[in-house]
Amino acid sequence: MDNDDKLIASLEAFLTNDVETLKGNIEKLIKDYSRKSRRLDKIIHQSDKQQRELLELNEELERTYAELDEYKNHLEEKVEEGISEIKGLNVEIEETQKEVVFTMGAIGESRSKETGNHVKRVAEYSKILALAYGMDEDEAEMLKQASPMHDIGKVAIPDAILNKPGRFNEEEFEHMKLHAELGYEMLRHSSRSLLKAAATVAYEHHEKWAGGGYPRNIQGKDIHIYGRITAIADVFDALGSDRCYKNAWDDEKIFKLFKEERGKQFDPQLIDLFFENLDAILDVRDRYRDIFTD
Ligand SMILES: [Fe+2]
Ligand SMILES: [Fe+2]
Repeated sequence: MDNDDKLIASLEAFLTNDVETLKGNIEKLIKDYSRKSRRLDKIIHQSDKQQRELLELNEELERTYAELDEYKNHLEEKVEEGISEIKGLNVEIEETQKEVVFTMGAIGESRSKETGNHVKRVAEYSKILALAYGMDEDEAEMLKQASPMHDIGKVAIPDAILNKPGRFNEEEFEHMKLHAELGYEMLRHSSRSLLKAAATVAYEHHEKWAGGGYPRNIQGKDIHIYGRITAIADVFDALGSDRCYKNAWDDEKIFKLFKEERGKQFDPQLIDLFFENLDAILDVRDRYRDIFTD
């Protein structure tokens, strides 16, 4: 073998080796590729599964949200129903309370043969004066409801005295005067603000601004504003109505007395407010006029 042959032989051997190596490398690469591809498939498969699970979870969450929403709406409806029921009950209680208080007042007055309209007019006059005095709407409304009870104590005064024609003798008058304290005693134990106000009205509606009234002979602003207002409303209405012991006075005579009693029997400020609001007061008198059928 010459040199050239040797060279060719070693070149062939080298190439053969190299091709084998190359083949081995390619096989390895193919194996590696298919392993990686299987892994990739597995991963893709797994992430598909996860994605499906996520979607399912999402749908489930949406269903739960919808259920919660429905429940919330239902609950809101129930709460609203409950609230409107409570409101309805409150209105009912308030209306009943007003009616009971008004009826009690009318009972007191009917004992002395006064009309139901007397207490209605006194109620309205009291509210007009209360608002003019600066009381807020709620308190003025409460006084309107409480003032009809000013004479509730008369339920405990005998008919023979209450309905006596003509003037009382001194003993009868002393007996009659008890109605203020009796009314107060009947009402003062209540914790309701309306009945407390009514107790004050019953107690103090015969007190006089300059003193000399009953039952305690208190004066000026020591007399509660409820008492001072109801006093004017009650006297104005009583003087303008026929009673068993007198005929109704005409307006001029009443206004003259009110001017004379300004600062004596009555709170001077309230008398001024009475005249300033006379139109509204006379409107009430027209609206609740006594109608006698016989
Ligand atoms: Fe009275
Ligand atoms: Fe009265």
